[in-house]
Amino acid sequence: MSKPNYREIKFPKGFLWGAATSAHQVEGNNTNNQWWAWEQEGGHISDGSVSGRACDHYHLYEQDFNLVKELGHNVHRFSIEWSRIEPKEGKWSEKEIEHYRKVVEALRERNIIPMVTLHHFTNPLWLEEKGAWLNPKTVDYFERYTRKVVETMGDLIPFYNTINEPVWVAYANYALGVHPPCHTDMNEFYIAGKHFLMAHGKSYNAIHETVKDMGFKVKPQVGIVKQMMYYDPVDPQVKEDVDEADRLDELTNRWFLDGIHSGIIRRPFGEGEELDYLRGSWDFIGVNYYTRTQVTTRLSDPKVLELMVSRVGETTDMYEVYPEGLYKQLMSVKKYGKPVYVTENGIATKDDNQRCRYILTHLKIVHQAIRDGVNLKGYIYWSLMDNFEWSFGYSMRFGLVEINYETLERKPRPSAYLYRDIIKSNKITTQQFQKYF
Ligand code: BGC
Repeated sequence: MSKPNYREIKFPKGFLWGAATSAHQVEGNNTNNQWWAWEQEGGHISDGSVSGRACDHYHLYEQDFNLVKELGHNVHRFSIEWSRIEPKEGKWSEKEIEHYRKVVEALRERNIIPMVTLHHFTNPLWLEEKGAWLNPKTVDYFERYTRKVVETMGDLIPFYNTINEPVWVAYANYALGVHPPCHTDMNEFYIAGKHFLMAHGKSYNAIHETVKDMGFKVKPQVGIVKQMMYYDPVDPQVKEDVDEADRLDELTNRWFLDGIHSGIIRRPFGEGEELDYLRGSWDFIGVNYYTRTQVTTRLSDPKVLELMVSRVGETTDMYEVYPEGLYKQLMSVKKYGKPVYVTENGIATKDDNQRCRYILTHLKIVHQAIRDGVNLKGYIYWSLMDNFEWSFGYSMRFGLVEINYETLERKPRPSAYLYRDIIKSNKITTQQFQKYF
């Protein structure tokens, strides 16, 4: 990785700065979704943990938002847990709706903009029993849940993310078999992917319609959050590698984004059908970016393997550090002409200096993308605090804030203060760069 050049960089006025969490990863005791059930089976989570009480954010959210305030964030991204709001099919929990209203209010009272994700990996158990995203009816169930959220708290919410990383969820759950229900069927991936795309479109329209029908004053911005994996050909001179990278980019990135843009569901996910409600169903694009995947079709050749290994740069507890991929992916969404937010970007590491460097190099990329014409409006670090990292459990430390899982004590790391200082001045100074490189 090339070193960032050390000159001061400034961010646009009004830039949004924050961090993200998701309900199942931080709240604790989300007992009514498919992840909780899967965890109880044992043997699935690599460090042997279960989500359990997690960070107990469900009870400690006010304390956590005080910290968010102290750390200077002006936006906070979090998810509402569908299985709490609709514990049984068509039955709504007034108590949980009230809870999330209070959560949103708590952010607003602190002048922090709430960015609400409606679906972040978890499905209510009743939905899972009906086949979840393989079932076409889930598109309507998701729309109904969306309407309920907006009717009951839409007066308070300026930003919605409909679905977090839909293509990755469809792939991980139904083709790769690494997340529940652990199926390994490409056909199911296509079906689930299509249903996610349709559900996004319906949810987008439902939000805008409901806000209008209810006469709310707020004008919400609604977007998709797309994991934008960058596929890097192992040898850019070799056509097979380049073609393979292009194939994977189409399979996991382009068909979905183009689908929202054009309303057309491309093969093999659809039949090329065109849906009016889907076309243009976004006000912004959320980009989640962590790393690259090196791509080749020539894995049986030991020389190619050697080349791959030699290309790996700095690593973390989970991924390779590859900030250039963020630039490429931000540039790739520029053509849609929508505002863009980095909705997740972060690092699992026990070395907080490495986290500081990671933040600096990726913000440098964010700055470059803005300079090169991407309408980039904000950066949201993953994650506010250490949390339950899905099938890796609690072994991964993504947080700006360290969690002691015994005592539930929260302790901001030095990176949280570096980030606070950047936010406060809306720039990165030469000295800040120099301290870490
Ligand atoms: C997900 C997060 C997850 C993060 C780090 C993203 O794919 O949205 O829930 O914790 O990656 O792996």
